[in-house]
Amino acid sequence: MLFDIIALAETGSTNDDAKNAAEAGAPAGTVIWALRQHRGRGRQGRVWASPEGNLYGSIILRPVGGALSYGLYSFVMALALWDAVYDFLPQAHIELKWPNDVLVEGKKISGILLEVGAGWLVIGIGLNIAHFPENPLYPVTSLAAETLSPPSVKVVLDRVLLALADWAVLYEREGFAPLRTAWLAKARKGAMRVRLPNAEIHGEFMDLDHDGVLHLRLPDQSLFKVHAGDVFF
Ligand code: BTN
Repeated sequence: MLFDIIALAETGSTNDDAKNAAEAGAPAGTVIWALRQHRGRGRQGRVWASPEGNLYGSIILRPVGGALSYGLYSFVMALALWDAVYDFLPQAHIELKWPNDVLVEGKKISGILLEVGAGWLVIGIGLNIAHFPENPLYPVTSLAAETLSPPSVKVVLDRVLLALADWAVLYEREGFAPLRTAWLAKARKGAMRVRLPNAEIHGEFMDLDHDGVLHLRLPDQSLFKVHAGDVFF
């Protein structure tokens, strides 16, 4: 997989730029990278604070082959971010939190915002390097907070893209099964609280199914499938 990086000093949101570029026909592998964003967006309509010093990038893919689910690319990307973070923090305890956050010592260091259109998908990634904008919902960290010698943003971007290419090729060749196995091996499990669009539940991690859906065991021992929500530990 070849990447063509378009570097910007600043922008509103690299996801918006990438979506516009995809609609205008930009090829797969186009990457919009900005040093800072003034309208950075997170999951569930939240703001993603984007001061200079962290990684903000959006990658355009155009998957072929109808059997592939576009949505599962968020797991492809999460595994790539895990690899990149592990390279820079080899001593740390690094986990994946459903659906696609990377946790370092239990604190969120990166996020993914996947957006899909006709014939394209945009994978937006935010990875804290120099700063960790405080978040009232969950604990956060950055590479600089975890190591004395944090890498430059461009070094991190290149490492993430390399890992993305590997995981995307595996997904395209073999489907979700090997990625699911890898994700499960790195996932934070145990008891969790899940905020759904209009309810909150407590449960015990049971499984990630073949569609990327989270299976929880509720206190009454029943099974609950989470298709979308926010997990807290
Ligand atoms: C999350 O809420 O965890 C996802 C955060 C995704 C942030 C990235 S930064 C680059 C890209 N552009 C955006 O506006 N959002 C994504």
